Amino acid sequence: MSGTADQWWKRAVVYQIYPRSFADSDGDGIGDLPGIAARLDHLAELGVDVIWLSPVYPSPQDDAGYDISDYQDIDSTFGSLADFDALLAGVHDRGMKVVMDLVVNHTSDEHPWFVEARASKDNPKRDWYWWRPARAGMNPGDPGAEPTNWRSFFSGPTWELDPATGEYYLHLFSRKQPDLNWENPDVREAVYSMMRWWLDRGVDGFRMDVINMISKDPALPDGHPLGGGPLGDGTPHFFCGPRIHEFLQEMHREVFARYDRPILTVGEMPGVTVEEALLFTDPERREVDMVFQFEHVQLDQGATKWDLQPLRLRDLKASLGRWQAGLAERGWNSLYWNNHDQPRAVSRFGDDRQYRVRSAKLLGTVLHLHRGTPYVYQGEELGMTNAPFAAIEDFRDIESLNHYAEAIAAGHARDEVLAALRYRGRDNARTPMQWDASEHAGFTTGMPWLAVNPNHESINAEAARSDPDSVFHHYRRLIELRHTEPVVAHGDFTMRLADHEHVYAYTRRLEDVELLVVANFSGGRVTADLEDAAEWAAAELLLGNAGAPDASGGTLRLAPWEARVYKRRLAAS
Ligand code: NOJ
Repeated sequence: MSGTADQWWKRAVVYQIYPRSFADSDGDGIGDLPGIAARLDHLAELGVDVIWLSPVYPSPQDDAGYDISDYQDIDSTFGSLADFDALLAGVHDRGMKVVMDLVVNHTSDEHPWFVEARASKDNPKRDWYWWRPARAGMNPGDPGAEPTNWRSFFSGPTWELDPATGEYYLHLFSRKQPDLNWENPDVREAVYSMMRWWLDRGVDGFRMDVINMISKDPALPDGHPLGGGPLGDGTPHFFCGPRIHEFLQEMHREVFARYDRPILTVGEMPGVTVEEALLFTDPERREVDMVFQFEHVQLDQGATKWDLQPLRLRDLKASLGRWQAGLAERGWNSLYWNNHDQPRAVSRFGDDRQYRVRSAKLLGTVLHLHRGTPYVYQGEELGMTNAPFAAIEDFRDIESLNHYAEAIAAGHARDEVLAALRYRGRDNARTPMQWDASEHAGFTTGMPWLAVNPNHESINAEAARSDPDSVFHHYRRLIELRHTEPVVAHGDFTMRLADHEHVYAYTRRLEDVELLVVANFSGGRVTADLEDAAEWAAAELLLGNAGAPDASGGTLRLAPWEARVYKRRLAAS
């Protein structure tokens, strides 16, 4: 059962597969389940414990599968339930687990529940979604007549008028993703029963999409105006809303508590604070095992994600350090740089040119040895980079396309808008997995749905697996360290040199074993002037990324993007 005393997931590393872009077995240019099944040895060799599958359910694919039209089947593009069972068996045979994506803040507008709900105002399913009339004193369809001023995550208002019934429905994301009304107990029971159906089929847990948005303030108040336009920020009224803890505890009771086997639950929670995360992940409260928080991936932005700002290492350390401290005694962190919504870590936090390999290894090292469960996003273990998108026609993601249309209509310069998309667009993460140097990188024999990054000729899994110095083998060693060194999974965490501009350093300690992780986030040489540098320089080097270390004179002098991991035993005091 999730949350048992064993807490096996503290020793686990999760690997995220984005099925559209992982491996295509039938040449239609889109990845599928048999494609994944054929590549499992790559993951077994890497040593990961759990595979999280982004959505594979039937979907019109308006938001690449995060718009589900049937929760209990597989989209024919990805295969069938029989293919799913075969994949699950293949994963279990290799001693790994499968976590499904659970997208229950919203469905697709093509889900039969919504089709019924929109049929008439008195349909029994009407109340499964959020319907409201036009703003008082206005007619449906009038500019500004939406029931609230909330802005959608995918641009424009969060309300869509349904002309047939003259009411609006709420969609925090695209208009094809209506929000479910969790106030209605029938909705909740339908979701729990669907979750049990997957667990009965043998899956090992859920990654819960925007799960901290399922409880909304039923009064639906307007939000503070956002710069410039008529729309406002609704998030205070649906991030961690009034009944969120109640709903997650109910889900735990109705679903997870019924299973006497290891289950992993991770809640994706934009805007969550450390204090709230402690409540969500305190095992005694029986909600979720861990959450995805977003603070560290928002440090390089201004008012919106498209407003690019330079990242300061001190801010990154302060943020991650605060999360380490906040969840030190109770609760648990998830650790990630990358997922299908984020640009590639090496292009964002490292140097994807001169020091690509070294900085990708540094990022893995720094992340994996924090206290928490690390997540590897497909291709991260190869040091895959952002893509060279030339024009808007090269993008596929609804978020990017909607933003582009809106920003151009508002008079922003094309080059400026494209520059932001190139840096931050989600398609960077979604370019096909680079398996080999052949045409389309061994991803497909057809035309890939999104172009393969031309750098697959040198950056690919085949080359990485055969090179002992590759990013892949470095990640393999990091994962092995978590499995073999109890201090990695269970030790405490102390940030060191918090004010240093370029050095990220911390120690981990469990009983008499202590680790030091020290990393140079810059292209210059730096010295990590720890007061106990001489002792560390003489300690056992467990892992490095830049050849034989320069530890002369008892100092820790780091080469560009160098990261080292030392281990020592403390004398009994
Ligand atoms: C978060 C998912 O990670 C993202 O890809 C999706 O667009 C939204 N939730 C809506 O489901």
